[in-house]
Amino acid sequence: MPAQSKPALTYVGTSWKMTKTLGESRAFAREVLEWGGWGESVTPFVLPTLVSLTAVRETVPRESGLLVGAQNGHWAEEGAHTGEVSMRQLTDAGADIVEIGHSERRADHDESAEGIVRKVHAALGAGLMPLVCVGEAQEIRDLGAHVDFVRGQAIQALAGVDAAARPRILLAYEPVWAIGEGGRSPKLDEIAGVVSALSSDHPDIAGVLYGGSVTAANARDLLDLDGVCGLFVGRGAWTPSSFIDILRTAT
Ligand code: PGA
Repeated sequence: MPAQSKPALTYVGTSWKMTKTLGESRAFAREVLEWGGWGESVTPFVLPTLVSLTAVRETVPRESGLLVGAQNGHWAEEGAHTGEVSMRQLTDAGADIVEIGHSERRADHDESAEGIVRKVHAALGAGLMPLVCVGEAQEIRDLGAHVDFVRGQAIQALAGVDAAARPRILLAYEPVWAIGEGGRSPKLDEIAGVVSALSSDHPDIAGVLYGGSVTAANARDLLDLDGVCGLFVGRGAWTPSSFIDILRTAT
């Protein structure tokens, strides 16, 4: 297969999931800004917990180029949805980007494909960049059905998005078996086919990231894969220095 052309921008970000106090969140952002060495071709982003979003936004000037975002948002504009936050409220709080459909939320909060596509539309309507996570569980991989499964998830999630809005969307391929504490670091050939299928299916979006057991040690090889235009990192970037190490690798 011929090498695919890559978008000009490489996105490298971290979700802090349910970690870090307000003070730790601010300190992390400050340290990354003080380093500031990611260069023009890399767009870094951090996704704090919701309670730290405003504090991190206040720490990170927009002109720094470090994007700030949320790990979830609701599809409704407003109303009786106890405990939820709308996409417009996220924009109002200073978010640039919102993660949608992470496998932990699909599992822990029964997020459905229908809810995810509604969230994508709501995020775009609120001026946010949706970062849509897709990925198969081990059982689907064992059946050899993973490429079709993940392509289907992505097509469903982006259904009905008009052509003008698609360049504002990021996809993250995050195989469930590679994510989190029990996650297994992937071999490059286990993910190459999926990311290249996703980037061929969606050549007009901002790009396809890879996530799941990313560290500074495997970041370069992952970024060099056809179709990968960035990395989405959990544990491997939860200290400022480990995030900076991965950003260095990408720069
Ligand atoms: P991990 O998580 O880097 O800790 O495996 C990745 C993710 O959940 O996005």
